[in-house]
Amino acid sequence: MKKNNIILIGFMGVGKGTVARALVKASNMYAIDTDDLIESLENRAIKKIFATDGEAYFRNLEKKSALWLENSVENTIISTGGGFYKQENIQNIGTIIYLKSSFEGILKRIKKASNAKNKLKKRPLLQNKKEALKLYNTRVLEYERVANIVVDVENRNLELIVKEILGKV
Ligand code: S3P
Repeated sequence: MKKNNIILIGFMGVGKGTVARALVKASNMYAIDTDDLIESLENRAIKKIFATDGEAYFRNLEKKSALWLENSVENTIISTGGGFYKQENIQNIGTIIYLKSSFEGILKRIKKASNAKNKLKKRPLLQNKKEALKLYNTRVLEYERVANIVVDVENRNLELIVKEILGKV
């Protein structure tokens, strides 16, 4: 089956949700976010899931979502949690786009948001900056390796990012 899905991967706070919404506006595609999917499956926030059942439990929910996405979704922009790229079947879901930015660029972007506090609070793995930077450093190369297309988003206009993605898929 030709699925025509676009999967956005990248570090927390890089703007996967924002880019997904802009892509939907500029195309005839649908949108789904893996964190939203998991929250609605569990009927509780990611932060609660991590606090109550731990990260391994959350990763298992990501795995379940990945299988569901592979079998059930087409013509959709899929924005993902920062760790979703590890799913073994990700290549079968659609074209994988890595939204790339430096760690500093990501922190700057979060700080600039009107709901900056909330953006930080809801992300358990972003609570400690040093740890978050370590995680970023272990993931950057992996994101590039998994991606079909790498798109630089740092300091770039949303319209241009959308144009680039739609021109390349
Ligand atoms: C995570 C990123 C989060 C969320 C969870 C774990 C990660 O999503 O899935 O807190 O491992 O990087 P965002 O990338 O949307 O913040």
